[in-house]
Amino acid sequence: MNTTRRFRKLTVVEHPLVRHKVTMLRDRRTPKKIFKELVDEIAMLMAYEATADLPLEEIEVQTPLEQASGWQVSGKKLTLVPILRAGLGMVEGILRLVPSARVGHIGLYRDHDTLEPVDYYFKVPADVVERDFLVLDPMLATGGSAVSAITSLKRVGAVRIRFLCLVAAPEGVRRLEDAHPDVPVYCAALDRELNEHGYILPGLGDAGDRLFGTR
Ligand code: PRP
Ligand code: URA
Repeated sequence: MNTTRRFRKLTVVEHPLVRHKVTMLRDRRTPKKIFKELVDEIAMLMAYEATADLPLEEIEVQTPLEQASGWQVSGKKLTLVPILRAGLGMVEGILRLVPSARVGHIGLYRDHDTLEPVDYYFKVPADVVERDFLVLDPMLATGGSAVSAITSLKRVGAVRIRFLCLVAAPEGVRRLEDAHPDVPVYCAALDRELNEHGYILPGLGDAGDRLFGTR
């Protein structure tokens, strides 16, 4: 794990398995089925890092032999919020790790010309103040979608929010940090730059299209 000096709130998850799997994701020959499996696996590994400071409480359990003390995750209720559509690809993997997590949804797409996000759906569980949110999107490009999703969550009262993506562009991390300096950001790779169409270089292409086979 590497908390970069360049960005105050960014953690790049640099576990060898993550780096290996991200490279497979980038490969244009990786078929849709494998692509989806890799997104789930990387999301799970990243959630492991992003939840490393979850509070615990001590409990007693009875083993087959005797009483033992142990731990259970306490505190706030974890809530996953994928940004539609590509964020959906990250949900299953994290739910395998935290099956009790609730799932909200935020629908956004990038306007092809302006690259600005257009929102079309918002639904998150009630008692927002009590929850820890993990906002999920494989790609942080210009940052417009992430900023908009987090603004919407804060508008309904969310206070503890983290953002998890697979590939980030420096431009997007900067915009997100400027707009929401309280939100920790986790990525599996910090790439070089955006091209003139707002795609991340070297990137992995259009995450939604590769996940759902729509191109
Ligand atoms: C992609 C991606 C992010 C957004 C990132 O979604 O999944 O949501 O672009 O770009 P940004 O940082 O410049 O906002 P897209 O709008 O293509 O929609 P999709 O998930 O439905 O394919
Ligand atoms: N959205 C994607 O899916 N890929 C990019 O490179 C940028 C935005």
